[in-house]
Amino acid sequence: MKPNQSFGSIVVCMGSSCYARGNIYTVEHIQSWLARHGLSASVELSGSLCGGRCKEGPVIIINGKVYTNVMPETIEDILVHEFEKAGDPELVQPDSTCSNTSAGDSWRVDP
Ligand code: FES
Repeated sequence: MKPNQSFGSIVVCMGSSCYARGNIYTVEHIQSWLARHGLSASVELSGSLCGGRCKEGPVIIINGKVYTNVMPETIEDILVHEFEKAGDPELVQPDSTCSNTSAGDSWRVDP
């Protein structure tokens, strides 16, 4: 990985519905996962206001793809799915110290 190389962006909906339904915790998981995998400086993490998809929430947009029904328990699977393609696969393997990897695929992505 080159210094200052960008691997993309994550936008976490912090509107009241998504926030209350889990994104308050999911954003902490994202920050922790990025730090553990050395990607904090390479992935832009930001919050957004409600995007009008509350019924499908919690919503997170990663590299332009809209993920719906994202829960703190499933965010690691999504991060691995998105960032294993960015290079440095050894950095983004599922973390065996995290208990969230067996939560299954309850989230969806809208292309
Ligand atoms: S609060 Fe997230 S889409 Fe409305």
